[in-house]
Amino acid sequence: MALRVRPLEAPLGAIVEGVDASRPLDPAVCKRLLSCWREHLVLVLRGQALSDPQLLAFSRLFGELDPPGPNPYGEPFLKQFPEINVISNVVENGRPIGNLGAGEAVWHADMTYVDIPPKAGILYSLEIPREGGDTWFADMYAAYEALPADMKAAIEGKRCVHDASHNSAGMLRKGYKPITDVRETPGARHPLVRTNPRTGRKCLFLGRRPNAWIVGLDVSESDKILDALWAHAAQPAFTMIHKWQPGDLLIWDNLSVLHRRDEFDPGSRRIMHRTQVKGTETVA
Ligand code: SIN
Repeated sequence: MALRVRPLEAPLGAIVEGVDASRPLDPAVCKRLLSCWREHLVLVLRGQALSDPQLLAFSRLFGELDPPGPNPYGEPFLKQFPEINVISNVVENGRPIGNLGAGEAVWHADMTYVDIPPKAGILYSLEIPREGGDTWFADMYAAYEALPADMKAAIEGKRCVHDASHNSAGMLRKGYKPITDVRETPGARHPLVRTNPRTGRKCLFLGRRPNAWIVGLDVSESDKILDALWAHAAQPAFTMIHKWQPGDLLIWDNLSVLHRRDEFDPGSRRIMHRTQVKGTETVA
């Protein structure tokens, strides 16, 4: 079956049909998939049926895998497949089988608290609640391009610290202390404006708002700029929503897209398996 791409009626994202991600892909199909991912930033493949080894093999089409960072419990959720992160609220035998619970996961990009963050995130849904748990994506190229000129000038050349200590559900990762002064937040310090080395196009590179600090500024001045940037970046004009079905496989550009997840009923079950693809260069 030939690969077909249907852009969403949204500023970013496309549905890709005609790909069975459980099977080895023809090199031409692979090439097209990669170029669609670069163009649309979020790809949605519905109706997949993947084992963990098949998810890993598909993810490796995008590059070498980047294992997840430390979770609150201090060990991989799937010991046999440490490159897979489990995102789930399910608790079995008194122990969470995955990360992030059932609450909101705030806007973020994955693992930007390291010097070379993953370039792609891949999320595969196994079990989905009837309501809630939708995932939102925001295009940071469009957000940067729509910034007023004075804000572009204010952030040019500035770096921001990306908090390593908490996950997007606000949980402290194992081995970290709560933050009392954002000037001491642990994590990488990246430029607020990233330039795509392939295309020269600029995007906002915000990571996550909690515990962020624009290096060198007074905390109040930094907070003022960051609050304005985040209010701008999360506007509906730059976002798409994904309403999950079991068997959905999403691939996003982690260096130019932010995502967040709505809360859902903690009494329902949501199980997702996630991989990430290693970035190849520092953010510049
Ligand atoms: C994540 O933030 O990586 C998980 C998103 C989701 O649970 O939909």
